[in-house]
Amino acid sequence: MTSYNINKFAVIGAGNMGSGIAQKIATEGFKVVLVDLDDEKVARGIGIIETMLDQAVKRKVFLPAQADAILANIDGTSDWSKLSDVDLVIEAVFENMDVKKSVFSRLSEICKPTCILGTNTSSFLVKELVDSVSNPERLVGLHYFFHPAKNRLVEVIGHATTSDDVYRAAWASQEAIGKTPIYSADAPGFVVNRYFVPWVNEGVRLLGEDVANIATIEWAAKKAFNVGMGPFELMNVTGVPISFHAATSLGDQLGDFYYPGQALKNFCETGGASWPLDGEVDESKYQTIADRLLGATFYVAAQLVEEDVASALETDIGARVGLRWPKGPFELLNDYGLEKSRDLAKAVIANYDLELPKMLQELDYKAAALETISSCSNGEVTDIWFQRPDSMNALNPKTFMQFDAKLTAAQLAQKPSILRANGKAFVAGADIKFFVDALEANNYPAIGDFAAHGQKVFATLAGNDYASVTRAQGLCLGGGAELALATDWIVASPKMMIGFPETGIGIFPGLGGTQRLPRRVGLPLAKYLLYTGQLLNAKQALEIGLVDAVSPFAELDATCLEWAQKTDYRQTEIEDIEPHNNWTEIWNFFGNNTIDQILSGEADALGNAMLEKAIHKMGQKSYHALKMCEVLLHEGAPLPLKHALELESRDLQTAFEHADALEGLSAMLDGRRPQFEQVASV
Ligand SMILES: NC(=O)c1ccc[n+]([C@@H]2O[C@H](COP(=O)([O-])OP(=O)(O)OC[C@H]3O[C@@H](n4cnc5c(N)ncnc54)[C@H](O)[C@@H]3O)[C@@H](O)[C@H]2O)c1
Repeated sequence: MTSYNINKFAVIGAGNMGSGIAQKIATEGFKVVLVDLDDEKVARGIGIIETMLDQAVKRKVFLPAQADAILANIDGTSDWSKLSDVDLVIEAVFENMDVKKSVFSRLSEICKPTCILGTNTSSFLVKELVDSVSNPERLVGLHYFFHPAKNRLVEVIGHATTSDDVYRAAWASQEAIGKTPIYSADAPGFVVNRYFVPWVNEGVRLLGEDVANIATIEWAAKKAFNVGMGPFELMNVTGVPISFHAATSLGDQLGDFYYPGQALKNFCETGGASWPLDGEVDESKYQTIADRLLGATFYVAAQLVEEDVASALETDIGARVGLRWPKGPFELLNDYGLEKSRDLAKAVIANYDLELPKMLQELDYKAAALETISSCSNGEVTDIWFQRPDSMNALNPKTFMQFDAKLTAAQLAQKPSILRANGKAFVAGADIKFFVDALEANNYPAIGDFAAHGQKVFATLAGNDYASVTRAQGLCLGGGAELALATDWIVASPKMMIGFPETGIGIFPGLGGTQRLPRRVGLPLAKYLLYTGQLLNAKQALEIGLVDAVSPFAELDATCLEWAQKTDYRQTEIEDIEPHNNWTEIWNFFGNNTIDQILSGEADALGNAMLEKAIHKMGQKSYHALKMCEVLLHEGAPLPLKHALELESRDLQTAFEHADALEGLSAMLDGRRPQFEQVASV
């Protein structure tokens, strides 16, 4: 097994994509060498990045010092010898096979043999580059989306000779730079372009057939898919020739259905640069247009899943994260129903020599089913994946049902399980919208059922005979942190952040947080975390024992596996927990003072800056929620965990019935500061 620890990156080609990819890598704190043909082209690429960063500073996304630090991470050069010590190279040169091959031959000579080589090609297969690479097991596809510094999606593509270690390391490297990776087979258009290009093309065909004018097609497409831009505006933004090239390339590989419509061909041949979007909208054409666009999408999406290019779940993640469609092809397909979707797809391909994918032909509901939690067993462990990255994997009743089912299956397999997630967050809490909807409808039973189900599932997880590990790659907030607490071990990436923001939204952690947290970190630090909502980084969480290990992304999977195989579970008694040296003042302060003593100013912070900040934060919380937390912590601490957990359920309805709950949750949804009934004034 070769170990690929990726710390230093390189990008070849400082154009539109390469400059953005380098910017993202640098933003995430990694060094990156950015190479182009000559110094002038390098300077142009760096100029693109500087402009982007200037704009970000103006919009207050970054402080000037942060923008400077990002630029300092980028070494723009035309000197290829600087590539000798990099760990991962991403090629983003012109979409020309000869140019790409010559780049890979050169990289093979200069880079170390364990350097992973990635290509950002859109239209070639990754395997076409194999002959140009020494040690082709290190070649992968890393397909990004415009603008790569902002768009989180990346398709990670292996080919027949990519080694598993390289694939895993490439995947981990993308998590490390804040991307949301999805799997794709080495197939034409990979996942997203495979259906997105035909979607655009169907719009072009509708125009060519005089079904409607551009303005009407734009309007109908936006309405049917609930998106911000229709096919023509998108072509204008990304470049009409690029769309023509993409469709031609898919047509060459997959046949006539994929070739560009005649209207696009004509437009490009006459040098058209930008489609005119103005015109009168004919609303009577809506259904015809929507049906065609949906039919094309359903056909291609079902076909790519049938060919094992990706799963239905990943196809939809691609649409939601990469294209920002609110619903992916399969969610739409399920909304319309298989029969209707089959009819739409059938009508769209009627003039082509194509077969309907089996899923549509046989109305195979199982194949079209869409779950947002997947699981797979690899011999030693069962991985349970939370896969709603665009919603930060927030927990809702549906998630609990799916999680329950996956967990039961994992337990039947009698193996340890590892909980993992896609995207920036592990799990960023419970679905706030669900709570607000239930509260507005005075539907407390819905919240009670949700919490009861969550507690039951977490208890099953915690009581499992086989180890469970949280692979905490990103944000763990609220219900997500409580989920992690219910596992035996928590292994964090250096980017993990963990915290309990509930008292700031008028409630308390109701999925075991008030009882499992003190049993991990001790009562005083549990108070500190619950009363202040303070976020901890991975190092701090490790110091107080909230997580068990911190591991770089490249070793995260292996470390989780190690912890999954441990059988000597933590059996600490709450009173035996000792504070780490860095935390004694906080420990003593929260151990010795009540909420009222702290808020009245009676408790002395002794000039400690962290404590001053903690007190200030408490002043912004719901006093009602703080007091409920205090009661639960004190009553629960001496009890056996099982009984302590019952206390949370006892108080849940009181918490949610209080006006602070609706105010706190609604404020969060609206992105404003809550106005609690009684602010915990300091
Ligand atoms: N533009 C997109 O939306 C998009 C999306 C995904 C993938 N891609 C793929 O990314 C790649 C780059 O696309 P782009 O839009 O950034 O192109 P671009 O023309 O903007 O940039 C290409 C850069 O590569 C440089 N270059 C060319 N040959 C080189 C060589 N031998 N050595 C070093 N540098 C060299 C060029 O000088 C140029 O700066 C292509 O493979 C494209 O298919 C593009």
